[in-house]
Amino acid sequence: MTDSGHAYGFGARLRRRRFLQASLGTAGLVAVGANLGLAPSLAAAAGKLEIFSWWTSPGEVEALQALYDVFNKQNAGTDVVNAALAGGAGAGGNMKAVLQTRLLASQPPDSFQVHLGHELLDSWVKAGRMEPIDFLYQSEGWANTFNQQIQQIAQSDGHQWSVPVNIHRSNIIWYNNDLVAKSGVANPATLDDWFTMADALKSQGIPALAIGESSPGHAGHNFETILQGVFGANDYKGLWTGATAWTDPRLTDSLNMFNRMLDYANPDYLSVAGADITDYVISGKAASMINGDWTNGYFKSKKFTGFSYLPTPNGSGVYSALADSFGLPVGAPDRDNAIAWLKVCGSLAGQDGFNPLKGSIPVRSDAGKTAAYDDYQRWAINEFAADTIVPSVAHGFAAKESWVTDYNNAINVFASNRDVGAAAQALLQAAQDAGVA
Ligand code: GAL
Repeated sequence: MTDSGHAYGFGARLRRRRFLQASLGTAGLVAVGANLGLAPSLAAAAGKLEIFSWWTSPGEVEALQALYDVFNKQNAGTDVVNAALAGGAGAGGNMKAVLQTRLLASQPPDSFQVHLGHELLDSWVKAGRMEPIDFLYQSEGWANTFNQQIQQIAQSDGHQWSVPVNIHRSNIIWYNNDLVAKSGVANPATLDDWFTMADALKSQGIPALAIGESSPGHAGHNFETILQGVFGANDYKGLWTGATAWTDPRLTDSLNMFNRMLDYANPDYLSVAGADITDYVISGKAASMINGDWTNGYFKSKKFTGFSYLPTPNGSGVYSALADSFGLPVGAPDRDNAIAWLKVCGSLAGQDGFNPLKGSIPVRSDAGKTAAYDDYQRWAINEFAADTIVPSVAHGFAAKESWVTDYNNAINVFASNRDVGAAAQALLQAAQDAGVA
């Protein structure tokens, strides 16, 4: 294992932060700037910029601020309204609910966090709520600098619809080194090793697996990594396209395996939020957790260094990916500022400011080379280049939102009643309802 560095945005409380208030007065300056024939960047440097995200956890907050800092430097005078909202079911549930209300009422924020893939395309692009931003890919040269696989996934109908700021990996297991040492298992690289470690710790009263499932999401995240390990990369991918049947016996195998792992979870896992579970690993209340590499950002923020990481069982060579992105909603009230924001999101300064703190790797091929990136990230950049890339379902890449919700709910119920047959049936039903099985 290597030394180096979560949080779901599922805090129980609603927290809405306004770092800066929008100012009606400055909106007028845009018009004045335009009339005086000032350079567009100057003209854009006024008014407000309202940004939606669910980044409210340690690591996320600093990373988002790093993007704002780059924006502020280039757009002095524009008030950034940080409308970040924690909590809810799934990734960003509360934010997504407010976003939906706002978009359906044609009152969009200037830009919002959205996962690349089906979440963006099926929820907002197909509904005609986003502007294509090919003009930015051209003016900023992103067609050449952004990772090609990611661009391919991001596009639809031959257009680009958002700017990815990062690539996260979901199939990592994070260990507390002191607790692994207590178990006597030096390197729990295989599932057998993990269970040996888990048994040794159980006899000492220490849970091996930290799970936070007070609302659906984190158990679904755990389970996608088990599906990947049991089905392998290709057949896992097929589950989301209809190429692999949800009646495949390996589904039952996967549920049985997760059921067994749940025997080693923190006993309060049904009452703890996903956003709060990383602290269990940091404080030694649990030995390991499966989560995305925002955990790296969380650990860094908390200055916790006593950890190690491995791909989840049978996940070596498979990179379960997701990407956060920002786009241009139709009718963005401060469109010029939104465009200036998107330029920052795709810029070298933006990506190299954001990612070292977020725990993720950049999308730009010329980024990721500074000393600010840590050992985990250097490893992840190499892995991403060499591995088979598969889409995370829990984080919007593999399937549309309604399917993700049904999937997460099925696994949430399973985490509570541990009924393998009922869960297999619910997952099949969810795929059928999505029109894929
Ligand atoms: C994911 C998101 C990440 C991270 C995580 C926890 O869905 O893509 O950026 O923030 O949720 O909040």
